[in-house]
Amino acid sequence: MPKHVKIVEVGPRDGLQNEPGSMLSASVKANLVDQLAAAGLTHIEAAAFVHPKWVPQMANSAEVLSRITRHSHVCYSALTPNMQGLERAIATGIDEIAVFGAASESFSQRNTNCSIEQSLARFEPVAKTALDAGLKVRGYVSVVVDCPYEGAVKPEVVASVADQLLQMGCYEISLGDTIGTATPARMLAMLDAVQRFVPVAQLAGHCHDTYGQALVNVMALLQAGISTFDSSVAGLGGCPYAQGASGNVATEDLVYLLHGLGIHTGVQLDRLVRVGQNISDLLGRPNGAKAGIALSNG
Ligand code: HMG
Ligand code: MG
Repeated sequence: MPKHVKIVEVGPRDGLQNEPGSMLSASVKANLVDQLAAAGLTHIEAAAFVHPKWVPQMANSAEVLSRITRHSHVCYSALTPNMQGLERAIATGIDEIAVFGAASESFSQRNTNCSIEQSLARFEPVAKTALDAGLKVRGYVSVVVDCPYEGAVKPEVVASVADQLLQMGCYEISLGDTIGTATPARMLAMLDAVQRFVPVAQLAGHCHDTYGQALVNVMALLQAGISTFDSSVAGLGGCPYAQGASGNVATEDLVYLLHGLGIHTGVQLDRLVRVGQNISDLLGRPNGAKAGIALSNG
């Protein structure tokens, strides 16, 4: 087991991108990011420079970043699907960008309007330009176990996409169980294939909780040596291109698990719980963090 786990808080992006209703204002989003940083999160995915017609909730990303009180110890990141997205991101002074690919052709088409091969060809210049500009580049692989359109995904395809992202300069590859159907044995079979190409120290787990398996998948990945996990405050979110997919593992639940295992995260759980309850109240949705609810009531 690792002694320290890096948590990548994706609530302001993965969480809010799928909220029904009108887009939250830039000041509310920026305040959420600031509160997350104040609770001790040091990696926060705050925005997505995608087409506003595809994901309207992320349309005010540039304004969100302009309103955040930046801290030098916090890494602020954003999704960039192509050069246009990268240019928009660079203009905000972002620290890190993420390119996002998929391990099934149908998901790649629905999410980014191109094949897997075309997406990787698009990411090459994005990664190179970002690295030249001094930014860190992260890579995502979506649908690493099941695709909502094609069913079970072959681990070798995940491994190949992850390898290509690593080769183009991604320092870390996040493995997304986008629709949250994975169980530990299938996650580990996928990881086994990916590890042949990407060192485990450069892999992250990105577990959605649709079937209530996210935390047990995190545990399995932890035991397999993964020490970076993506999570979403209050379990916000889903994916607009994966019908019915629910949010990521809640950051509060993840932190509760990790601290219980004696693993350091740097997060102050009591402060985080307040942030999760506040954003849930503001959105008028139930808090998706079980530890968050329990500690709020306690
Ligand atoms: P496209 O329509 O194929 O793009 O979209 P295009 O290059 O053909 O251009 C068409 C128009 O889009 C042009 O405008 C471009 O300027 C504009 P027009 O000339 O028609 O007026 N355009 C842009 N505008 C703003 N920002 C841009 C941009 N690029 C082109 N970056 C594109 C291709 C990739 C842009 C589109 O498919 C898109 O935005 N997709 C994003 C989908 C998305 O955000 N999905 C959710 C995030 S992924 C996720 O949640 C999974 C993850 O959490 C991991 C997991 O859980 O598995 C990461
Ligand atoms: Mg996701």
